[in-house]
Amino acid sequence: MAKHPAGWRVALLHNKRWLLPLLVALSVSTALAFILRAAFDSSCDRRHFEVPKTRFHPATGTGAGAAAPSPLGFMKSKHVLLVSHELSLSGGPLLLMELAFLLRGVGAEVCWITNQKPSERDEVVHSLEHKMLGRGVQVLSAKGQEAVDRALKADLVVLNTAVAGKWLDAVLKENVPRVLPKVLWWIHEMRGHYFKMEYLKHLPMVAGAMIDSHVTAEYWKNRTQERLKIKMPQTYVVHLGNSKELMDVAEDNVAKRVLREHVRESLGVTNEDIVFALINSMPLPVENAFIHLYPLAVDLRISVSRGKGQDLFLRAFYESLQLIQEQKLQVPSLHAVIVGSDITAQTKFESELRDFVAQKKIQNRVHFVNKTLTVAPYLAAIDVLVQNSQARGECFGRITIEAMAFQLPVLGTSAGGTTEIVVNESTGLLHPIGKEGVTPLAKNIVKLATHVERRLTMGKRGYERVKSMFLERHMAHRIDAVLKEVLRKAKNQHS
Ligand SMILES: *[C@@H]1O[C@H](CO)[C@@H](O)[C@H](O)[C@H]1NC(C)=O
Ligand SMILES: *[C@@H]1O[C@H](CO)[C@@H](O)[C@H](O)[C@H]1NC(C)=O
Ligand SMILES: *[C@@H]1O[C@H](CO)[C@@H](O)[C@H](O)[C@H]1NC(C)=O
Repeated sequence: MAKHPAGWRVALLHNKRWLLPLLVALSVSTALAFILRAAFDSSCDRRHFEVPKTRFHPATGTGAGAAAPSPLGFMKSKHVLLVSHELSLSGGPLLLMELAFLLRGVGAEVCWITNQKPSERDEVVHSLEHKMLGRGVQVLSAKGQEAVDRALKADLVVLNTAVAGKWLDAVLKENVPRVLPKVLWWIHEMRGHYFKMEYLKHLPMVAGAMIDSHVTAEYWKNRTQERLKIKMPQTYVVHLGNSKELMDVAEDNVAKRVLREHVRESLGVTNEDIVFALINSMPLPVENAFIHLYPLAVDLRISVSRGKGQDLFLRAFYESLQLIQEQKLQVPSLHAVIVGSDITAQTKFESELRDFVAQKKIQNRVHFVNKTLTVAPYLAAIDVLVQNSQARGECFGRITIEAMAFQLPVLGTSAGGTTEIVVNESTGLLHPIGKEGVTPLAKNIVKLATHVERRLTMGKRGYERVKSMFLERHMAHRIDAVLKEVLRKAKNQHS
């Protein structure tokens, strides 16, 4: 461990005032690391992802792949073409960018193509391209002979998101069939409007699809079959993993204690109070990071949204307070924290949340926290993570594995990636989506508030689960295996 610069550690111990700014600085300095927590945080619909960090650390010591060579080493001098539907600070492109850097890191020749570029000069696009060029990634125009030549020459072509499928016909034209056998299609979305032939007609012929949870993969299989009557290619599920940076903070008890005190103090919550939090911060960290790196006017996306189920969480929270009162249970004060609010956005939804809190007179129990650069301080400060995503749930839900790294139990909807991360009754408790989930969630809140021992045990089991399945190196090894197989297939096709 001991990766923090000494100064950071000293400040951590002696000067709490600097803690958050320092964590921020830490994040910014490791820029595409801690910050580009690219996961498909939200329902994959949105463009939130969690990015694999700057480096995939080779497996060291125990666990999967002990003594295995550094992942992706076999990609050295291979030609890779990455096709992104757009270049922005949203999750999808950033995730692909991280893959680009990772491949560069092992000596691959990497080219990048952005299919949809704004017609005017765009500062974000410009900075990101600059960043890629600086790290040896070549940036090509989406159209034209060079793009075609590169695609033909490439050992591997990665199409990122469903929408990138448009690029194939538009640019490659009659060359499409020659390129398809070496295409790996990385899919991060679940919304209906992606199931269009316009995007997906070549999907059955590519070498493989990579999707971040089994549920999402299953959903794709169903929808492509039912809606489009097409068959998915070989599909690989690649779960995301926690960054080394996050694990370092999560495993540093001193840091955690100081962060906990600091955040609780700022919220007006005592050490004994029990804090349930719904955290949704994904869009901002990335953008903020870049605001620091490049002072740009970036339109900040709203992160409080109905799909995250903050409204239903607040109703459940209120119900749990009533249950405690009715049953005269002796428990410390319960608090609900909603991270990811944005007062300036003044959406109707956010006003509704605030009105509900005012109407039920629970202002002293509910805390809205602005979108934040880094979630670690909040994970250190709370007792239980609530993952209340609605509809099909999260594609994956990176915050869930991050919370588990901090030994927090999870109260989650029984939907999407959450069901692959949280083990019901062991590392957390699941409840149904929709209004039917409100009372079960309320009861689960009461359960964890009244059973301290159980809560702590669940947190510990969650941590063990993360250590055994959801680390960066696990993800790196999965990607490694996928790329190996795709390359092997492409080669067989060719010969
Ligand atoms: C896919 O379809 C099967 C059979 O209709 C169904 O049981 C399953 O729940 C569906 N899965 C998803 C993710 O929609
Ligand atoms: C939260 O954001 C609002 C609007 O941008 C700002 O006025 C307020 O000071 C922020 N609160 C904190 C605690 O930073
Ligand atoms: C979780 O486990 C509890 C207790 O066994 C059960 O009542 C509940 O239905 C389970 N929920 C899900 C979504 O599996």
